[in-house]
Amino acid sequence: MATKPVCLSDYEQYAQQVLPKAVFDYYCSGADDQQTLADNVAAFSRLCLRPRVLRDVSNIDLSVTVLGQNISMPICVSATAMQRMAHPEGEVATVKACSAQGTGMMLSTWATSTIEEVAEASPGATRWLQLYIYRDRDVTESLVRRAEEAGYQGIFLTVDTPYLGKRLADMRNKFKLPSHLRMANFETSELAFAKSDYGSASGLAGYTADAIDPSIKWEDIDWLRDLTKLPIVLKGILRADDARAAVKHGVDGILVSNHGARQLDCVPATIDALVEIAEAVGGSAEVFLDGGVRKGTDVLKALALGAKAVFVGRPVLWGLAYQGEEGVNDVLQMLREEFKLASALAGCRNVREIDRSVVRSRSWTASRF
Ligand SMILES: Cc1cc2nc3c(=O)[nH]c(=O)nc-3n(C[C@H](O)[C@H](O)[C@H](O)COP(=O)(O)O)c2cc1C
Repeated sequence: MATKPVCLSDYEQYAQQVLPKAVFDYYCSGADDQQTLADNVAAFSRLCLRPRVLRDVSNIDLSVTVLGQNISMPICVSATAMQRMAHPEGEVATVKACSAQGTGMMLSTWATSTIEEVAEASPGATRWLQLYIYRDRDVTESLVRRAEEAGYQGIFLTVDTPYLGKRLADMRNKFKLPSHLRMANFETSELAFAKSDYGSASGLAGYTADAIDPSIKWEDIDWLRDLTKLPIVLKGILRADDARAAVKHGVDGILVSNHGARQLDCVPATIDALVEIAEAVGGSAEVFLDGGVRKGTDVLKALALGAKAVFVGRPVLWGLAYQGEEGVNDVLQMLREEFKLASALAGCRNVREIDRSVVRSRSWTASRF
């Protein structure tokens, strides 16, 4: 790239130029017609900011506590599978960048680096394991135990993927992992996504159907709650009633997420789903959001509507494709600076000052005249 990126979409454009088509398509796609994919970003634009002025914004403190860990900003990294397709160091590069930025990384069950490798690369980092519940509960339990032993500080259980969403590009590309890579947390080629054929157009859809338990229900949250003392966050909640049920089942947090619009299409943008969930949960659990966060103003809007922190998925992959660890560091630093500037210009000196009054929907403004 001739000039240095100045916004996150510059990194995406670069990634599109350098990554093999099937890899870029897997990373960027949503499900079906990708209505929610577009809406995750567009919904942020439908919100206006209402700045306060004359508030001495010479010092801005972005720090926040997430699941008991102090981190330097309310911007963390979401689980994205198979990061070594974007850069040879993959998840190891990502965790090092997160550690340098003083923020947290959620490692995918489907990572191309092991739970232990990522821990060793960055022993002091805030790390959480994203978990899928496998049909084989011994496999699932062993992932949890390995995370505990390697010093991970929480489990994000993904609850929106009993089956894989229908991703057209992956079907057209017959997506599978390049032959030099595997899902590194697993021994057998079946579970490591290393078989030559999964009997379906998208290899990953076939893998999911074979391996992931589609029968999970609320009692399984109790099972996981009894299995580990680590904080548990449910990832993929989009309704107030499910959020209340999650609290009843003893979870520590809720990640308002539509899986980056890759599962059920036509669901609400996450920023639109956030308000009812934050209201339903009150203070009984920490509420987070991911999906479509691409700018500092998006972070400000999400915090104003009740998120304690946001997570980003694809931008990290674009950073990896750009320059590995340094690229992810640049992406996180750019979001930090943009969020700091947005907070200052809105008159918020720390995250506690970012309240509901900072945002208003465009339709509210239009309805006044
Ligand atoms: C390429 C890719 C792979 C993903 N892999 C996983 C995964 O393994 N587990 C999971 O729970 N979510 C996964 N997600 C969803 C992300 O954790 C996150 O919810 C989403 O990317 C947030 O949206 P954003 O990409 O717009 O920031 C993946 C998303 C992408 C784009």
